[in-house]
Amino acid sequence: MRFLSALLALLPLAYASNANVQVNGNVCTVVPLGGGQDDGPNVLSAFSQCGDGGTIVLDSYYVVGTVLVTTGLKDVNIELSGTVQYTPDIAYWSPNSLYMAYQNATTYWFLSGDNLHLYGGGTLDANGQVWWDYPNKTTGTAGGSSTTFARPVPLTVGNASNVVIEDLTEISSPFWNNFVYQSTNVTYRNINISSVSYSSNPAANSDGWDIYRSSYITIENSTINNDDDCVSFKPNTTNVIISNLHCNGSHGISVGSLGQYAGETDIVANIYVNNVYMANAENGARIKVFGGSPYANSTAGGGTGYVQNVTYQNFQVVNVDNPITVDQCYDTDAAACAEYPSQLNISDVHFIDIYGTSSGEDGTVVVDIECSSECQDITATGINLTSPNGTATYVCQNVASESQLDFNCTAPSSSSSA
Ligand SMILES: *[C@@H]1O[C@H](CO)[C@@H](O)[C@H](O)[C@H]1NC(C)=O
Ligand SMILES: *[C@@H]1O[C@H](CO)[C@@H](O)[C@H](O)[C@H]1NC(C)=O
Ligand SMILES: *[C@@H]1O[C@H](CO)[C@@H](O)[C@H](O)[C@H]1NC(C)=O
Ligand SMILES: *[C@@H]1O[C@H](CO)[C@@H](O)[C@H](O)[C@H]1NC(C)=O
Ligand SMILES: *[C@@H]1O[C@H](CO)[C@@H](O)[C@H](O)[C@H]1NC(C)=O
Ligand SMILES: *[C@@H]1O[C@H](CO)[C@@H](O)[C@H](O)[C@H]1NC(C)=O
Ligand SMILES: *[C@@H]1O[C@H](CO)[C@@H](O)[C@H](O)[C@H]1NC(C)=O
Ligand SMILES: *[C@@H]1O[C@H](CO)[C@@H](O)[C@H](O)[C@H]1NC(C)=O
Ligand SMILES: *[C@@H]1O[C@H](CO)[C@@H](O)[C@H](O)[C@H]1NC(C)=O
Ligand SMILES: *[C@@H]1O[C@H](CO)[C@@H](O)[C@H](O)[C@H]1NC(C)=O
Ligand SMILES: *[C@@H]1O[C@H](CO)[C@@H](O)[C@H](O)[C@H]1NC(C)=O
Ligand SMILES: *[C@@H]1O[C@H](CO)[C@@H](O)[C@H](O)[C@H]1NC(C)=O
Repeated sequence: MRFLSALLALLPLAYASNANVQVNGNVCTVVPLGGGQDDGPNVLSAFSQCGDGGTIVLDSYYVVGTVLVTTGLKDVNIELSGTVQYTPDIAYWSPNSLYMAYQNATTYWFLSGDNLHLYGGGTLDANGQVWWDYPNKTTGTAGGSSTTFARPVPLTVGNASNVVIEDLTEISSPFWNNFVYQSTNVTYRNINISSVSYSSNPAANSDGWDIYRSSYITIENSTINNDDDCVSFKPNTTNVIISNLHCNGSHGISVGSLGQYAGETDIVANIYVNNVYMANAENGARIKVFGGSPYANSTAGGGTGYVQNVTYQNFQVVNVDNPITVDQCYDTDAAACAEYPSQLNISDVHFIDIYGTSSGEDGTVVVDIECSSECQDITATGINLTSPNGTATYVCQNVASESQLDFNCTAPSSSSSA
């Protein structure tokens, strides 16, 4: 024993090998402390020791009550075959989760570096119910969090490149399940997400994925049960492929919201969404952009930029309120939006083979495409949507390419809202 501790004292590592981080060559296996003790420092130690060309093994049940900022990683395998459960300690996490510069989002785990592979069939459990049920919760604006009650994202792939995340179950997220932040070439596949509340408090803002300032992102073969966007393309998301998703209870596959801040430029381009099953949802295929604003300091519209080359194809809806919806006056007063139309252009948007049934929530309306400035080159083919409330109707406004929609448009009624 004395010899061992003397030896350990000589090791020049920031984190000495200990009984709970077994180091075997470049493989670091974290052994749980048990008894509800925080395994976070040992997880960080494993990343520190095996974060360059190594493998981190998380094959047991871990309790994590320390924010995980694992940055500067290079060529790392993360074998998560066990369960990482974040402590339900709001008093710790709200101020100590890592803050990122978008909608006050914070995270439990900021995974960052180049050429990273997370796999193993394990689980991230973020104990969302205690957050959803918290009595005095405050939320941010437009789907954001708040700095006073900061609800962390279970897994953020941030400032990262060439990442594959696969075979993962994520349960009970207090906020967005996944955040792709300032990253390029990230693939997610075989991800099972379940953020479902067991009380009357909804699993608020439990988006499956939010993507921000990122490119070359693929999300495929995944199942999402939640209470907000299934996937959301936030400002400066380009070159994304979404395929084979099964979304239940969500708010749809959403572009936006964009154009919220005057003086800011938001771009969403080159998005291909293919083969989605969307059930019991508020929206199916959705684009939401704020209207314009006369105020240079506006935080509720007036931003510039564009949405371009977005295709939704092979998209089945079942009991969905708004199967196809484009709103360029999002969260903007209708009269104000008419006077100050959006300065964020929408063009080259294609809906191909969208079929199924609406919920009837919006009566017979199954398509609602309302642009404030004119939208260019929006097409729809193979649309086969029915409403339980009678013959389907299609509302359009300011669509330059109306003749390229395979249904007849009606103008919005004054009472219609998207
Ligand atoms: C919630 O707010 C009420 C009234 O301000 C206060 O009495 C109570 O202690 C708060 N509860 C929590 C958990 O912060
Ligand atoms: C960020 O948090 C502050 C303080 O809670 C809040 O006022 C603001 O609306 C939040 N911003 C967003 C975008 O949610
Ligand atoms: C991510 O990158 C930005 C810009 O390079 C940097 O300012 C920020 O500190 C990085 N975040 C983390 C958590 O490393
Ligand atoms: C994307 O990342 C994966 C995983 O690291 C890698 O195999 C692939 O070559 C990368 N693609 C490009 C275009 O760099
Ligand atoms: C996800 O759920 C599906 C069906 O419920 C199951 O077949 C699959 O194995 C699950 N994947 C993971 C990674 O747990
Ligand atoms: C994804 O699912 C499709 C359809 O079920 C299947 O053909 C494909 O092999 C799967 N891809 C991966 C990477 O699992
Ligand atoms: C988006 O990209 C454009 C063009 O590079 C840039 O001007 C703008 O500031 C970016 N916006 C955000 C929100 O990052
Ligand atoms: C449109 O986006 C798709 C999906 O990212 C991409 O494959 C295609 O090349 C883009 N088309 C153009 C003209 O950029
Ligand atoms: C914008 O500026 C005007 C006057 O310059 C001010 O009245 C208003 O409160 C400001 N709005 C915001 C959102 O800061
Ligand atoms: C649509 O029909 C359902 C019954 O099938 C009814 O409950 C609902 O109120 C109707 N919605 C509208 C907007 O008329
Ligand atoms: C539209 O969908 C209905 C119900 O699924 C189906 O019976 C019908 O054949 C479809 N029509 C076309 C043109 O595909
Ligand atoms: C659209 O309206 C025109 C003229 O009333 C009619 O000939 C055509 O069949 C309608 N098309 C569809 C898809 O309902």
